[in-house]
Amino acid sequence: MGGARLTGEVRVTGAKNSVLKLMAASLLAEGTTVLHEVPDILDVEYMSELLRRLGCEVVRDGATRSVAIAVPEVPSHKADYDLVRKLRASINVLGPLLARCGQADVALPGGDNIGSRGLDMHVAGLERLGATVRSEHGFLIATRDDRLHGATVWLDFPSVGATENLLMAGVLAKGTTVIDNAAREPEIVDICSMLIAMGAQIDGVGTSTLEIEGVESLSPAEHTTVPDRLVAGTWAVAATMTRGDLTVRNARPDHLEIALDKLVSAGALVDELDDGFRVRCHDRPRAVDVVTLPYPGFPTDLQPQFIALNSIARGAAMVTENLFEARFRFVNEMVRLGADVRTDGHHAMVRGKESLSGAPVEAADIRAGAGLVLAGLVAEGVTTVYEPHHVDRGYEGFIDDLVRLGADVSRISVNQLS
Ligand code: UD1
Repeated sequence: MGGARLTGEVRVTGAKNSVLKLMAASLLAEGTTVLHEVPDILDVEYMSELLRRLGCEVVRDGATRSVAIAVPEVPSHKADYDLVRKLRASINVLGPLLARCGQADVALPGGDNIGSRGLDMHVAGLERLGATVRSEHGFLIATRDDRLHGATVWLDFPSVGATENLLMAGVLAKGTTVIDNAAREPEIVDICSMLIAMGAQIDGVGTSTLEIEGVESLSPAEHTTVPDRLVAGTWAVAATMTRGDLTVRNARPDHLEIALDKLVSAGALVDELDDGFRVRCHDRPRAVDVVTLPYPGFPTDLQPQFIALNSIARGAAMVTENLFEARFRFVNEMVRLGADVRTDGHHAMVRGKESLSGAPVEAADIRAGAGLVLAGLVAEGVTTVYEPHHVDRGYEGFIDDLVRLGADVSRISVNQLS
């Protein structure tokens, strides 16, 4: 039910996009790795299940938000399609399994094939390190004869997933691996910190050139996951859109510089705190142009939330999506809510309206789902977001937090709807 002002405090947990990779990285060392600040979300459950099938024991301690992963001496090396199709990040076990076991069989996520857009940089990079990679019966099969060997890899694009896979393969390779044009996301810095705690030697962390001196073996480690900048950013947009006042704890404003600056341009007041930030907005926000780019550029994972913001803002703005064009599919759902958005290729022109009007809409992915919930918070009447499980993949206790902060929102089963 639209119309509420969000006020109060909310605490963010560890980043989904980091923790899934940290869990995969645990495969690199025999023994028990302990991760802290692990969000209680569906994607973590899927990754836990994947690790269990590889022979690991995965135990969550709800009270401390920690997960202990006991990795056997020889993990198995096959990730089946039933899990991979639910969790694209399954591809992140490719590098560590290949390095550790000498072979990795990972089902191809739908639509991908060797050499196709999506996995080509992962494959080409691993081949440079001495792997043989082939596609067979829907699986990507990577093998090596001997230990992987260091090499220089130039990525065509600073892909997050490819940088992570190559890092995890390079840390156990013989000699020096250089990843040039590497991704620089805070989640990459996080995995580097964990790998270093495990005994890896990595230089250039946080820059676009990573230099890795391979070691013979790694040891398990204990690591606290970096806070989720995308969840924190979603709350910041929610505060601005609802003309609310939110204090977001366990957040890193330095990981959200452009996004928070955009909200200031939109009219919000943003204060940095020791452990997070506070966002307030008193008036109808102004529309702001956004261009998504790899970090430190504006994150594509906050693009739908900013389209939602612009759709009720004063003025018009252009949103340019440079990473995932399919993310604009969500625009059709915004139009159902009365938004004035037109797309042309990878540009979306959003003309702000005084108000949106609640309607049934469908979430196609995590961030689209979050964007639609935000739009529902400011739309007149009731908005029903179908397929909310997408939101559960990335936002822990989203509905409970929204209710606590003053929103009128509830989860209903499909039976209640019919
Ligand atoms: C990760 C995040 C995702 C985020 C994205 C960009 C996780 C689980 N997901 O996805 O939320 O939106 O980073 O910040 O961490 N590409 C290729 N070939 C490759 C690899 C990628 O063409 O071998 C293309 C992709 O199709 C896409 C772009 O590069 O267009 C960015 O992909 P990448 O940075 O790899 O994103 P992910 O790691 O998949």
